[in-house]
Amino acid sequence: MQNILLTGGTGYIAAHTAITLIEQGHNPILLDNFVNSSPKIVPRIAEICGKTPSLIELDILDTQSLTQVMRTHNIHAVIHFAALKAVGESVARPLAYYHNNVVGLLSVLNAMQAAKVAHIVLSSSATVYSEDAKPPFVEDAPLAANSPYGQTKVMMERIINDIAHTDPNLRFAMLRYFNPVGAHPSGLIGEHPNGIPNNLMPYIQQVAIGQRDYLSVWGNDYGTTDGTGERDYIHVMDLADGHVLALAHLLKGEPSFTVNLGSGEPVSVLQLVRTFEMVTGQTIPYKIAPRRAGDVAVLLANPQRAKDLLGFSTKRTTADMCADAWRWQKNNPNGFSS
Ligand code: NAD
Ligand code: UFG
Repeated sequence: MQNILLTGGTGYIAAHTAITLIEQGHNPILLDNFVNSSPKIVPRIAEICGKTPSLIELDILDTQSLTQVMRTHNIHAVIHFAALKAVGESVARPLAYYHNNVVGLLSVLNAMQAAKVAHIVLSSSATVYSEDAKPPFVEDAPLAANSPYGQTKVMMERIINDIAHTDPNLRFAMLRYFNPVGAHPSGLIGEHPNGIPNNLMPYIQQVAIGQRDYLSVWGNDYGTTDGTGERDYIHVMDLADGHVLALAHLLKGEPSFTVNLGSGEPVSVLQLVRTFEMVTGQTIPYKIAPRRAGDVAVLLANPQRAKDLLGFSTKRTTADMCADAWRWQKNNPNGFSS
């Protein structure tokens, strides 16, 4: 059994990944400062998989304590989820984003070096692809970000690549997530954004539960099938499987790699709304609104490299994403405070 440190461990994607890691015989250790999550998720994880993962309250910026954690827990690999992730907020608070995400990564890498931890899996994002790149994106497409958040992810990838060039001991997996949605099928854990949701699926969920009156569809004049934005939605449990496969690949001694984690299937805003309505029986009133600044028409992965390298492909459908997101929302209208 290997001890895997999950920074940002009580966050949305990390918590789902922790379940799959436990089910596959790993020992995840969750570390978080709770800036965007709650320790209340831990008993829920235990209820799902019959094991309570260790939880450490710590800020990743505290390099000394982080090094100590890695040493005392005999950490084999780090999955580095911890980051601030709201695109709009990053435009308003760039300093906070660069500090937390970029300096945070430097702190994690320094701690790893001091504690002799050689493997890192990084949460990267489809947002790193340049607007000049043509969807479906291949991993070698040009990178450029148009928000401070996206820029932190480009920089984080670059920093790890540069260090791995000179440090033969460091091996990495860079995972570029497309649009993670859904929840664990138990309905016990899921995503609960603070305040008004920015992202489509959480917004639809809140309309369905009656917390919001209607969905604003940001633009229906894109060059897509029905004019609304197309995205590559990936069920968070498929994403969790991707992390475990990536980790296994690294721990086998294979070289470092960067892969997209997506399905390669475009789904428009209105297609997602209709699927949600069909699966849940709820009506989602919507209004067409102007385009949202900074949005692109299509974000789509070419998933071939992840398939060839890791044997990864998505298994859950858009209907599964909607059904699982709705079960979580219905059972926990106020997230972990319900
Ligand atoms: P999340 O906010 O639910 O999880 C991030 C966690 O990191 C939170 O629990 C937060 O409290 C913690 N954290 C932040 N700064 C910290 C610090 N300084 N020290 C300790 N803990 C800290 O977000 P998520 O959706 O689970 O995202 C996880 C990762 O995946 C992030 O790196 C995010 O940028 C990336 N990502 C997310 C998406 C998405 O749409 N959800 C898409 C692409 C990439
Ligand atoms: N949308 C609406 N109404 C809403 C919210 C979203 O019409 O209330 C539309 C958007 O215009 C877009 C689609 O729904 O066409 C998806 O939008 P999201 O905000 O859910 O997702 P994005 O693709 O814009 O961005 C997300 C994360 C980014 C990340 C990116 C790729 O917020 O951080 O996925 O991983 F970089």
